[in-house]
Amino acid sequence: MNYIIREIEPRDNAAVEAVIRACLVEFGGDRPGTAWMDPDLGRFSEVYRSEGRKYWVAENESGRVVGGAGVGELPGVPGVCELQKMYCLPEARGTGAARRLMAEALAFARERYEKCYLETFGNMKAAHRFYEKHGFHRIAEPLGRTGHFGCDVMYLKELKGGAGRRIEPCSEDDIKAVADGINAYNASQVPFTQPRPWVDMSRKVVDENGKIIAGCSAVMYGWRVLYVELLWVDEPWRRQGVGLELLRAVEDEARRQGAYLAHLDTFDFQARGFYEKQGYALFGTLEDVPPGHRRYYLQKRL
Ligand SMILES: CC(C)(COP(=O)(O)OP(=O)(O)OC[C@H]1O[C@@H](n2cnc3c(N)ncnc32)[C@H](O)[C@@H]1OP(=O)(O)O)[C@@H](O)C(=O)NCCC(=O)NCCS
Repeated sequence: MNYIIREIEPRDNAAVEAVIRACLVEFGGDRPGTAWMDPDLGRFSEVYRSEGRKYWVAENESGRVVGGAGVGELPGVPGVCELQKMYCLPEARGTGAARRLMAEALAFARERYEKCYLETFGNMKAAHRFYEKHGFHRIAEPLGRTGHFGCDVMYLKELKGGAGRRIEPCSEDDIKAVADGINAYNASQVPFTQPRPWVDMSRKVVDENGKIIAGCSAVMYGWRVLYVELLWVDEPWRRQGVGLELLRAVEDEARRQGAYLAHLDTFDFQARGFYEKQGYALFGTLEDVPPGHRRYYLQKRL
């Protein structure tokens, strides 16, 4: 089926209203606090005429309107628009009609706004995938004053950044920003079970003069998982039980703070046997790192 995507005209008003009401009934949105109660529902050709607003319809080969989408300002939030009243009848879903409506809406929005917001319902799972595919990310709180208190899922998309976008090296502060970003994302997916995303578990062994003779850098992350990053014993002290004592101290502290699992990696010229003696088991191997060698990945339940 070929669809025509075009701007709404007065003759489309009733058909657009019918499409939206049919979709709202299908998903249980025919109640207060949703588009169901919007007084403008049958007047889109007028409502979407002003600057910064537009509405498009998808028309099938028989000239029937089967879907639509609009863009309008988001009251109370300058620079942000809202993707509004995006609905397609079942017959038009999976045909590419929605993708083309979205393309029109985003092209229009990009020229006028910084960000695009939308509200939807928790049970519109296919729509969520569709929005995410188009670069929308879920946000926790509603924006602006849409009046749609019945909508429980909100999305936002950055519209700018295409033209001036570039890749640069990171400073330490930048890396911190990246870590904050990924931590926030991770916690939103699977809530952390420890007070801070990273709890340092690093320990060192010093001699009687305070000189470092061995050290272990380790962290307990997110969900009380211990990651042992580095372990080193200075040459004259090797094979005298120092490494073992240090690793145990780190594991004991992590266990004390609730850790249930430890993992680490080691090259084939390092210490796989040492870790296996401490109860670590191989769960993966990276071949040819460095060339001609292997990198082993080990884990242990604490
Ligand atoms: C690997 C290292 C941390 C071990 O520390 P250590 O103080 O020398 O080891 P320990 O004396 O506590 O050894 C404990 C046991 O592991 C064994 N072991 C130690 N190093 C080993 C190795 N590289 N491979 C296999 N077994 C090893 C010891 O023989 C000992 O066994 P035993 O209990 O049967 O006598 C230390 O040798 C080191 O720093 N090596 C160079 C850097 C390195 O490889 N770091 C690990 C990076 S992942």
